Order: sequence, then C-alpha cells, then structure tokens
Amino acid sequence: MMHAKVTAAVSPVVVALLWQLRDEPLAACLCMAALAGLATWCVVPAATATFKRAGLSGADLAKPGRPVLAESMGVAAATIYLAATFLFIPLQFRSQLAAPSRHAFPFERLGQYLSALLSLQSMVFLGFADDVIDLRWRYKLLLPTIASIPVLVVYYVGHGVTHVVLPVFMRGWFATNTVDLGALYYVYMGLMAVFCTNAINILAGINGVEVGQSLVIAVSIIAKDIANINSSNPEAGYCHLFSLYLLLPFVAVSLALYYWNVYPARVFVGDTYCYFAGMTFAVCGILGHFSKTLLLLFVPQIFNFVYSAPQIFGLVPCPRHRLPKMVVESSIPAGLVAKLQRAVDADSAAACDSGFEAAPGSRHPAPATGLDALHRTISTAMLSFSKTERPAGPRPRRPSAHAAAYLVPSRAALAGSRPLGLLIVRLYEQLGIADVERDAHGAMVSVNNLTLLNLVLVQCRRLTEAQLNNRILLIQLANSALAFIIRYQLSNVFY
Ligand code: UD1
Ligand code: MG
Repeated sequence: MMHAKVTAAVSPVVVALLWQLRDEPLAACLCMAALAGLATWCVVPAATATFKRAGLSGADLAKPGRPVLAESMGVAAATIYLAATFLFIPLQFRSQLAAPSRHAFPFERLGQYLSALLSLQSMVFLGFADDVIDLRWRYKLLLPTIASIPVLVVYYVGHGVTHVVLPVFMRGWFATNTVDLGALYYVYMGLMAVFCTNAINILAGINGVEVGQSLVIAVSIIAKDIANINSSNPEAGYCHLFSLYLLLPFVAVSLALYYWNVYPARVFVGDTYCYFAGMTFAVCGILGHFSKTLLLLFVPQIFNFVYSAPQIFGLVPCPRHRLPKMVVESSIPAGLVAKLQRAVDADSAAACDSGFEAAPGSRHPAPATGLDALHRTISTAMLSFSKTERPAGPRPRRPSAHAAAYLVPSRAALAGSRPLGLLIVRLYEQLGIADVERDAHGAMVSVNNLTLLNLVLVQCRRLTEAQLNNRILLIQLANSALAFIIRYQLSNVFY
C-alpha cells in the first residue's frame, strides 16, 4: 500500500519539523496540515468497508455497472481537519500562553478562531445528517444561517465594518463615498454562508468535481493571503494569517480526499464535504474581511445556481439526480451483442420479480431497468474482452472497462412546467445555453438538466467523466485568474 508506506516514512520527519518549528505558528500550521493530509490519505481507504457496512454507500451512476462506493467520506476528512485545528490552538497562542498577565492574552483572536471552528463543526454535523437522512431543502437553508451566528457575533464584537465603498459613478447619486448597510450587511453575510454551503453541493455528481472546485478556490484564497500577509496594517495582516490557519489544513485534507475521489472514484465525499468546504470559505470570507473577493471566486457556482434556478424553484421539473448521463460505445461483436441482449432480458425479468435491486446496505437503491442491466452486462463483457491487465495496485487509475463510457447531457421532460419556466427555457435556448427538444409541432418537449456540467456537455457534445471534471476545474481556475484581475487591476477604475 503506497499511501501507508509513504505516510509511515514521512510522518516522523514532519513531527520532528513540527517540534523544531513550534514557536513559528505559520510553520507549525503547515506541519499540522501535512500530518492531517497524510492521516486522511490513510484513513479514507481504511474506513471504506466500515462505511459500507453502516449503509453509507451509493451507486456510481456514471459508470457501466454502477459500482457501489462508500459515501460521505468527507466526514473522515472533516474530522481529521477539526482534530488538526484543535491541536493547533496551543501552538497558535504558544508565545502568549507564557505572558505574565492574563490581560495580555489575545482572547479576541482566540474567540475568532473558536467561533470559526464552531460554525464549521455545525456544518459537518448538518452535512452528515443530510447524507444519512436526506434533509429537506428548508433545513438546508435554515441551518447554515444559524451555524453562521457565532462567526457573525465575533465579527460584530470586533467592530465589524458594515459600510460598502460606492463605485465612482454612483458617488454623485448618494453624495457620499460609502454607504453603511448596518444590519443588512449581517443579512448579506448570513446569506453568503447559506449560498457557499449549498452552491458546491449542486455543482456535483461526477468524480472529483466537489473536491476539485473547492481545492481551486482554497488555493486561490491562499495565494491572495500570501500576497497580502505583510500588510502595513497589522489587523489586516492578521486577517490573512487567520485565513491561512484555516485553509492550509483544509487544502491538505482535501488533496488526500481528492486522490480517492477523482476518476475512477473509490469513495464519494457526500454532502458532508460540500457543506464543510462551503462553510470554510464563508468563515474565511467573513472573518478575513474579503467577502466580495470570495463572491468573485464563486462565479461558476453563482452561474450554476442562477442557471439551475428554474429547476430548483420548481418552475421546470427537477429529477432527483441531474448529473450527466452515461452512454457506452463498444466494439463488441454483433453475435455477442445478441447474447448480451438475452442476458439483459433475463436480468430485467429477474429484476421485475424482485421489484428493486438495491446495493447491499445502500441508501440509494437503484431501480433495475433494462438499461441498468445492459450497462452491467456490457461492462462485464468489456472487462473480459480487455487486453490490458488491471494494475496490481489498489487503485486502477484507468480501468479498461470504462474506456468507452462517455457522458452526454441528461434531460428533463418539460411536461408540467410552469409558464414562467417555459419562458426561461426559451430564453436560455435563444442565448444558446440550452438544448431544447421539440416535437413535430414545434412545442418544447425536453431540455438538458440545467447545470453547468450538462451545459459544458451541450457545448462539447460528449466527454469522458475525467475530461468533464478537468474542464470544470479549468473553468474554475480561469475564473480565479479573472477574479484577481478584476479585484486588483480593474477595481482601481471603479473605486
Ligand atoms: C445534488 C444535485 C443532484 C445531483 C447530486 C449528485 C441539485 C438540486 N441536486 O443532490 O442533481 O445529482 O447532487 O451528487 O442540483 N454520485 C455519482 N458520482 C459522483 C458523485 C455522486 O454517481 O461522482 C451519485 C451517487 O449515487 C451518490 C449520489 O450521487 O450516492 C449523491 O447524491 P446526493 O449528494 O445525495 O445528492 P444531492 O446533494 O441531494
Ligand atoms: Mg450532494
């Protein structure tokens, strides 16, 4: 097991480094992050069987044969993250712990850090609850608002700024340079926590994409923090340091999780990871005083949410899963196809007898249709036809059985749509961002599911799952570059 060997070899070195650098909080944070990453790398595969036994599993819907994988593995990463951040508390305040007077201790900074961890912990709890009992949308909106209260209170006590600087062209209208939004600013930050947590969860459904987008956003914020850490204003400098303290361990555990979740995934990260990641960004944005820059980094998620709105708000039917559809193209000989079809028919008949075919212990039972059976049977046949041996290691990176599986946009029937929903779909069609199917009379019959993943596929026709994940990460990366140009170059034009 490569990960176990590397961890066994590297951990003692990192612990020794941590001991040497214990008086340097940022260096100590880096060491803690490395240890947390190594721990996640080892714990995730070790916990897989236990999670499956506990019924925490789901079918990988974009693969032939729909293999069953352990679900909610984000809870392992988040727990290790919380352990690392808790252990970091004495290291962060080590120099002040020895101060002669208790009044010299920076309780305000400790309160800031603890409130961040409290909000994060609440969201991990909510995410895990969602994975286990599939919460209703109203709770997914209400609970992040409540979870952000500790952070908002600390922001308030810390004389949090509630005014916004007006762009130059608006200053004449209001006869002032700034507007104080007061309580509205807190509403805006509370809404940001709700948005960040849910936005990652709805840009999901293919291997690697939840963790991948979070990694790009986190690394972008880290780059911004490093560039600004030596600010002439010590409070502003500490805001960036604070954000680094939270994000370095986040990136470490996310990288380890990405290793197991990227195509071909061995585990799913679950809603737990999506909420944990979203709240980490919201907390950094609020307490680090860069909520507007954060929104710029979230533009792909904002686009995905606005684009999805007709389905999310029930104006157009919204299937339980909107992830792209898998198609298999194979060069299996025609004779074998006939044989496969007979196997499919037999499989379908058996499935009809039993009603459902659920993965053992799965919370997401998949109805066994003729198509499912076809996927399974073709996948088995392709495995036996494969000339390439499966790699001996624990992680087959490119299983030949999936070589001919592509993703195409999944679709939603438009029957039952509200008139406003149909109007928006028509608008999307005119803008060239929706693929609408029409009947012989020109009436709209179906549309691609309204997600960024499906939209990329509408433009590219078909991609493999790995290619689609890479495209989304490229979009996220390009967005980060654009966000920094807007924030640091163009803002001079407007402000
Ligand atoms: C959100 C999306 C839903 C999407 C789902 C996929 C909205 C309103 N909801 O729902 O459209 O289908 O996420 O995560 O946009 N899965 C895979 N491959 C992956 C990741 C997930 O097949 O790489 C499947 C697995 O069956 C897994 C399930 O998605 O068990 C997880 O779905 P869940 O997180 O419960 O869906 P939601 O967050 O409710
Ligand atoms: Mg989800």
